[in-house]
Amino acid sequence: MTEDTFSPPTSEWYYPSEEIVNNAWVSDYDALYAEAMSDIEAFWAKRASETLDWFEPWEQVLDRSNAPFFKWFVGAKTNIAHNAIDRHVKTWRKNKVAFIWEGEPGDRQTITYWQLWQQVNKFANVLKSMGVTKGDRVTIYMSRIPELVYTMLACAKIGAVHSVVYAGFSEQALSDRIDDAQSKVLVTQDGSWLRGKIVRLKDTVDEAVRRSPVVEKVIVARRTNHEIHMESGRDYWFDELMALPVASPYCETEVMDAEDPLFILYTSGTTGRPKGVLHTHGGYQVYTSTTLQWVFDIKDDDRWWCAADPGWITGHSYIVYAPLILGATSFIYEGAPMHPYPDRWWRMIEEYGITILYTAPTAIRSLMRFGEAWPNRHDLSSLRLLGTVGEPINPEAWRWYHRVIGKERCPIMDTWWQTETGGFIVTPMPSVGLKPGSATRPFPGLDVDIVDEEGNSVPAGEDGYLVIKQPWPSMLRTVYGDPDRYVGQYWSAYEKQGWYLAGDSARKDEDGYIWVIGRIDDVIKVSGYRLGTAEIESGLVSHPAVAEAAVIGIPDELKGNVIYAYCILVAGVDGNDALVDELKEHIRHEVGPIAIPAKIEFVDKLPKTRSGKIMRRVLKARAQGLPVGDLSTLEE
Ligand code: PRX
Repeated sequence: MTEDTFSPPTSEWYYPSEEIVNNAWVSDYDALYAEAMSDIEAFWAKRASETLDWFEPWEQVLDRSNAPFFKWFVGAKTNIAHNAIDRHVKTWRKNKVAFIWEGEPGDRQTITYWQLWQQVNKFANVLKSMGVTKGDRVTIYMSRIPELVYTMLACAKIGAVHSVVYAGFSEQALSDRIDDAQSKVLVTQDGSWLRGKIVRLKDTVDEAVRRSPVVEKVIVARRTNHEIHMESGRDYWFDELMALPVASPYCETEVMDAEDPLFILYTSGTTGRPKGVLHTHGGYQVYTSTTLQWVFDIKDDDRWWCAADPGWITGHSYIVYAPLILGATSFIYEGAPMHPYPDRWWRMIEEYGITILYTAPTAIRSLMRFGEAWPNRHDLSSLRLLGTVGEPINPEAWRWYHRVIGKERCPIMDTWWQTETGGFIVTPMPSVGLKPGSATRPFPGLDVDIVDEEGNSVPAGEDGYLVIKQPWPSMLRTVYGDPDRYVGQYWSAYEKQGWYLAGDSARKDEDGYIWVIGRIDDVIKVSGYRLGTAEIESGLVSHPAVAEAAVIGIPDELKGNVIYAYCILVAGVDGNDALVDELKEHIRHEVGPIAIPAKIEFVDKLPKTRSGKIMRRVLKARAQGLPVGDLSTLEE
């Protein structure tokens, strides 16, 4: 178990107002939960048929015959792009605003469903002209700009599989992900704006593509207009392609099987190799749209703001796909929350009349540090719901968010989920009583439990492993190109029972509320970003001075965790401050700026078990001045 940012269960309750309960899509969680659990297949089939269009219906809701390779809506024909955009342009929503976008320098765009549909059709034709066909992978390396959304949807429309790589990753991390997906086409931009500076994304792409010659074509959206290298015959400007006759304004939507892949999203696991989590067209759209509608109570007049990055699952599910399926209006902001002043977010909430804000605990904590005067300068009365995701939220930050931002009116939806789950799993709904720091209870249709190693449910108040006991429609289908890893990672711990192991430790309290403690594996959450110790360690040992490395996460007030690295140097190398700086710079290029260790220490030995596995818990205890515990398995 980790000793991460755990806060003990409290008896502090927050109840929503009667008005919120009466107006919510779901007013009675218990009744809905019971209905869903009485027949999960009937429950999801009803949602699928009532809320979405299908080109052809399914023959079977859930196929368990080849578990854990579950299949949902077997035989159905669909395309998520049809439900996200095509169908809306035939209704009154045609002229509804799909996205309001603000760039960090202050430039703005308003994009209606009709305009979005046109851009997606045109870019889908561009991709086709580049030779992209159904099943091909397209890597996307972009920041929060509208072209990113057009690109993802254009891929979906023609049946290509997108692989969005977070724009904070380095050239090596990008190259590894390109190689794993074998993408021949990459879509990027010249640069992005962050804290008033240009992040030179295209330079990183140039280096990554040099390392990954599989890429044949690079499409570059214009954003920062700084000088970049354009390789003739390989690199093309997005806007120039969109002006060509080939970018005609209509592209037929590809008819997909419900189980055809929609996207790959790489995430960190226990080995250094990137793990491509695969999601599909059918079940994913049913689950993401249902969860968003019920948890954030999305109505037609809402202005929804999910402040995540589209490069992570939160952005895929809850900036791009689910809000569009629901026909909602979303807000997207390109840049940093404190730029140019720490009231940027609050100014935009006031100005655009944002009704729901969904962000991460780390963002809340950093905004909190600047004090109440910044939010208090703005009228935040448009807000009616708040949300958080990515790591446990400490009760203090929860209370600040509730009091200062939500003015004690807005319930906070603390949603626990993962890249692998596709959508919220343990989460409140607006009509549910809240306890600060608890993600509350499972979403209807989800059988979540906290169990010990043998699979027995642990008593209230005790730590255990979080498992999901029944399949759900937006579950990952496999690890791209590595089905054994899919089985081994998620299904082997409770093979007999057929349960999904999430990789988190958690507790249930006497009210059945779930309190997530943290990861049980070698995954570190830094500012909500998921990083694997192995990735950072292999980054460190790729430096010629480092013979061996061990990396751990240490609790941090602001970031949740920070990285500490212990390195054994190659004989004869002097471990001085200059080398520390050099190694930090090295990690910036090997993994990305988010993975730079807060501390690098040079050591002669690392605590290992007799089988050679590094005992991270010993390092962690030592770093925090805590007792190191049982050392009987320690080699030296
Ligand atoms: O440890 C849990 C933590 O984030 C992990 C999943 O990370 P990722 O796949 O990057 O997805 C993040 C966005 C969905 C989980 O295994 N986590 C996520 N949400 C919460 C959380 N921990 C506590 N409370 C949450 N609400």
